[in-house]
Amino acid sequence: MKFDTPATTNPIDRLQIVGQPHDRIDGRYKVTGTVSYAYEHHEVAPNAAYGYPVGATIAKGHIRAMRTEAARRAPGVLAIVTAENAGKLEKAGRNTAKLLGGPEIDHYHQAIAVVVAESFEQARAAAALIEVEYAEAPGRFSLAAEKGAAKPADSDVGGPAETAVGDFAGAFARAPVRLDETYTTPDESHVAMEPHASMAVWEGESLTLWTSNQMINWGRMDLAKTLGLPEERVRVISPFIGGGFGSKLFLRSDALLAALGARAAGRPVKIALPRPLAVNNTTHRPATIQRVRIGAEQDGRITAIGHESWSGDLPDGGPETAVNQTRLLYAGAHRMTATRLATLDLPEGNAMRAPGEAPGMMVLEIAMDEMAEKLGIDPVQFRVLNDTQQDPENPSRPFSRRQLVACCRMGAERFGWERRSARPGQRREGNWLVGLGMAAGFRNNLLTPSGARVRLEEPGIVIVETDMTDIGTGSYTILAQTAAEMMGVPMEQVRVRLGDSAFPVSAGSGGQWGANNATSGVYAACVKLREAVTRKLGVNAADAVFEHGEVRSGGRSLPLRQAVAEGPLTGEDKIEYGDLAKTHQQSTFAAHFVEVGVDAATAEIRVRRMLAVCAAGRILNPKTARSQVIGAMTMGVGAALMEELAVDPRRGFFVNHDLALYEVPVHADIPHQEVVFLEDDDPISSPMKAKGVGELGLCGVGAAVANAVYNATGIRVRDYPVTLDKLLTRLPAATG
Ligand code: MOS
Repeated sequence: MKFDTPATTNPIDRLQIVGQPHDRIDGRYKVTGTVSYAYEHHEVAPNAAYGYPVGATIAKGHIRAMRTEAARRAPGVLAIVTAENAGKLEKAGRNTAKLLGGPEIDHYHQAIAVVVAESFEQARAAAALIEVEYAEAPGRFSLAAEKGAAKPADSDVGGPAETAVGDFAGAFARAPVRLDETYTTPDESHVAMEPHASMAVWEGESLTLWTSNQMINWGRMDLAKTLGLPEERVRVISPFIGGGFGSKLFLRSDALLAALGARAAGRPVKIALPRPLAVNNTTHRPATIQRVRIGAEQDGRITAIGHESWSGDLPDGGPETAVNQTRLLYAGAHRMTATRLATLDLPEGNAMRAPGEAPGMMVLEIAMDEMAEKLGIDPVQFRVLNDTQQDPENPSRPFSRRQLVACCRMGAERFGWERRSARPGQRREGNWLVGLGMAAGFRNNLLTPSGARVRLEEPGIVIVETDMTDIGTGSYTILAQTAAEMMGVPMEQVRVRLGDSAFPVSAGSGGQWGANNATSGVYAACVKLREAVTRKLGVNAADAVFEHGEVRSGGRSLPLRQAVAEGPLTGEDKIEYGDLAKTHQQSTFAAHFVEVGVDAATAEIRVRRMLAVCAAGRILNPKTARSQVIGAMTMGVGAALMEELAVDPRRGFFVNHDLALYEVPVHADIPHQEVVFLEDDDPISSPMKAKGVGELGLCGVGAAVANAVYNATGIRVRDYPVTLDKLLTRLPAATG
């Protein structure tokens, strides 16, 4: 089905099932521990051997010698695979560095061997016996030091490296009120609960891989390419995923090492990356240095806005596209943005939840707060004043739907924003300095083809099959809701099967594009199935209504199951998009509000209240959508106050590569969170009229926290995370 004209009324609009806060249909299985994750498919391979990966302990250079004899003789060892005996391996395009390194080493903890043994303990013990002699080469590990050599970098999702409209330099120089500040965001880790894990089973020359992966089809293509196999001989299965956040968008070493280990051992092999390896072996969100310049008239109207971002990656890697939202978010006749990329020899930088906008909004929205203060304008009003209904770089392109102003106004009212003191450091409650902060939220809505197959079987059971994944987001549930609404059956009669490359290729889970595109793919398949049903029943398709297990048409009412009395009927299709995403800018909007308390003596920061008001298209399931947003808000607090991978500047690795030292928020850090969704059905986005929401909930939260800390203390921290050492010596209490 091609979606190239705005959606009109369709069966989804009844909202009898879609749009309702349905519980997760997989929730019961998860909380009772009765579903199998990638490492747990004992039922398919009870005799699986265990693989243990060995990571390089230098960041750059080459292996001079690797001694594996002692490991081979160790108890239980079945095979050891290294680059020397693995056979020819290609590098798939989505991986920046090779998943099995050697003799050249590209980054610290790049995998250089896998040991396969009868038990996990034997594999790990044998791995420790491998001796590696390296020739270490000097590496580049500091973004600040390499910034000068950074080059403009286009990125596949982010558009051009540089954009310019009007005369930014002139307009900025002439502006009566100006801000020119530089900010930094650190390297961050995804730390999904479930580690990267895979189990590989060979049957002859065909490989089946149970893994934990967000994008089944990418994984299948890349694994086939790496191993030099035709795609038909690779099957990837990933029905349940314990969190991804972008770290499982692409094939990682666990998948390749399991496949190689299983081939070498002649046995099914499973591997889970140990937590420290997950940090340095896989990907992270790259650190940024960002310069923002804003010029405005005294009345608060922005005349010039410029945003430059520097980040680093391995050779052939990509940038963090932190300037992207600045191309779209605020009005202003004169503008520039630039994305620059330095070469670093740290582990691979890549997508982490809302790549680009997450760190970009952390910076832009502090800058907006600073600018509002310079102008003497309320931060909410400053954003309202500079709203635009057109893409500011291409004024002929309207936003499909944009309710940023409504988000800001409703948020301000609900949060009690009028009680905020415009002057910082004014409100004190006992030992606590109390402040309020806000920020806009913004993330694009991406359209991508998505396929599905839907089958109607006796006695009126609807089976949905697509390679879409559920990374904890609720895909199973909203796809079931879509099929139930379309076919007019209760949720209990729908079965959803996901995460298998044997099913039609879907959008997959990433970039908050999963919900809108994958449900639209199921919608398209259901349209086909409805046609098959009406044909079978001999009724007119055009006015057929599917409801309560019946098909009503032309005054007749027939049971749906009558259509499958002689056998199942199938509908298969995919949603594809025409030019609507080019003629209209599609984005999602929010306003984030935060109240913090800062201990006047110790600078301990406590988040006390949070509110997000979101305009993110039609909300397909308010319960799962809210769950996405509160999780994202929690992640935003982590980014604002805690998360930072510490770089060892001599050896080029992230030192705090475990959950003891990489700090993320826990329950005690997060207060009650309120989430409001505005009515925002968008007929330009898809037949579902929905958009993404899972990343919107993150974008802007960090800045709202930082702005609240400023409002509480009068201390402006421009280097994330905002930790107490950056406040301690400057606290009002310490000076007076
Ligand atoms: Mo998201 S970082 O595209 O999984």
